[in-house]
Amino acid sequence: MALVEYRVWDRTTRLFHWLNFLCVLGLICIGTVILYAGDLAIPNDGKVALKTLHVWVGYVFLINLAWRLIWGFIGNSYARWSSVLPGGEGYGAALKSSIRELFSREPEPHIGHNPLGRIAVTLLLLALLVQGVSGSILAGTDVYMPPFGSYFAEWVATPDKDPSLVRPYSPETVNEASYAEMREFRSPVIATHLNTYYVLLALILIHVIAVVTMEVRKGGNIISAMFTGRKTLPQHLKPETEIVD
Ligand code: HEM
Repeated sequence: MALVEYRVWDRTTRLFHWLNFLCVLGLICIGTVILYAGDLAIPNDGKVALKTLHVWVGYVFLINLAWRLIWGFIGNSYARWSSVLPGGEGYGAALKSSIRELFSREPEPHIGHNPLGRIAVTLLLLALLVQGVSGSILAGTDVYMPPFGSYFAEWVATPDKDPSLVRPYSPETVNEASYAEMREFRSPVIATHLNTYYVLLALILIHVIAVVTMEVRKGGNIISAMFTGRKTLPQHLKPETEIVD
């Protein structure tokens, strides 16, 4: 069968992917240390430093994620929401044959995401979005950092403390009752952040297993395609549109 090279992932999508990979890896590592800070006997100063670093990496992660969400409207055809989200004309039938192909010897190659891959990528992006939103709130409740830090500092200082003097792990700088109220508000947010961390770990594992399995069974350089943007596949496949690079 004649093979040709297709240009699939545009530069923005590739940059997003690898920057996201680095940020998520960093956030998982630092987040795991924060989670076990008690067992590791990390002192309060160390916890504040870890949380502050986690939030700074979080900002890079958030800007990159926001840009990818926008790129879904303006990127090339394979980066657009119409090619990423499950649904659209013929999606149901394509999904069924994609599931059948899981067990076939010669699965049909796809230029962009296959129908099952769309579900996986959508779940991954959703989980990242939930982590981004819950993390942005925790940045305020835990270390009084933007975007909501000054709002939470004012909350815990009311009515008898100075909001500009509020510091993490410093009970003398906050009003006890207001602080307890704020912690109650925070409780479902940290639960969401922690549960989504476990969901993300599972999704990342599935993503890596799926990509490696597809690479071995279908070929088409799907791993290197995220570096080069190009896949080598049978000639009869039709590229959806011209590629913007
Ligand atoms: C892939 C993205 C992320 C992952 C996997 C992740 C993971 C984690 C984990 C495992 C913890 C410890 C939870 C606990 O102690 O119960 C944590 C805590 C925290 N995260 Fe994230 N995080 C992510 C994104 C973010 C973002 C974008 C921000 C803010 C910009 C953020 C801010 C925080 C803060 C402030 C804490 C401390 C909360 C505490 O007191 O434990 N996170 N994160």
